[in-house]
Amino acid sequence: MSYGFLDIAVTPSVRAMQAAMGSDALWADPKGHQAADRFSDVEASFIADRESFYIATVSESGWPYVQHRGGPRGFLKMLDSRTLAFADFRGNRQYISTGNTSANDRACLFLMDYVHRTRLKIYARVEIVALDADQLLTQQLTLAGYKATPERIFRMHLEAFDWNCPQHIARRFTEPEIADAVRPLRDRLEFLESENGALRARLAGYEESK
Ligand SMILES: Cc1cc2nc3c(=O)[nH]c(=O)nc-3n(C[C@H](O)[C@H](O)[C@H](O)COP(=O)(O)O)c2cc1C
Repeated sequence: MSYGFLDIAVTPSVRAMQAAMGSDALWADPKGHQAADRFSDVEASFIADRESFYIATVSESGWPYVQHRGGPRGFLKMLDSRTLAFADFRGNRQYISTGNTSANDRACLFLMDYVHRTRLKIYARVEIVALDADQLLTQQLTLAGYKATPERIFRMHLEAFDWNCPQHIARRFTEPEIADAVRPLRDRLEFLESENGALRARLAGYEESK
């Protein structure tokens, strides 16, 4: 039986630790962790809804490196059910993630949905594509009106993915999400303030006429 994500993540030292902690039997045949070799519609819509994610790469010295990538909702695109891509923007020009992947193409993506307390982990191999190498791909990933300078495309080939449970995730909301949520309250407040103003004016008129 193949478990996809766990086949990669559970190395001999991890297995030894599971045995030491008495959880090796639990993870020998984990229900719900069977391998899927491609993304389904569930992952597709989750990925399309993201405005950011974290990407871990591995340096030549063996150190992990985690960085954040962000953009307009859906900037991380699913090209097909086994391939993701995004336009990598100019930043501090350290090029650590890009440099790492030129020596070791392995990456782990970590996608958080803080509102629904859901997270998706993805193992992928990164292919760096120059902007002028594939006009169609670059066009597909160009974000009209977004203030950023793309420098390259990260095309990422799926190796495995896994979902995690919602435990210990504090819910967080973006400014537009908060604005949407409080809009009915603001509208109601505005209505009550205006009604209150009108009532005060009527009361003042009544007092004057006494
Ligand atoms: C002017 C400028 C300064 C930045 N400084 C930092 C910084 O000090 N630390 C950091 O993690 N990201 C910083 N960023 C964001 C990173 O450059 C950006 O996330 C980039 O994609 C990081 O890529 P890398 O870490 O894979 O090299 C900065 C971005 C800009 C435009």
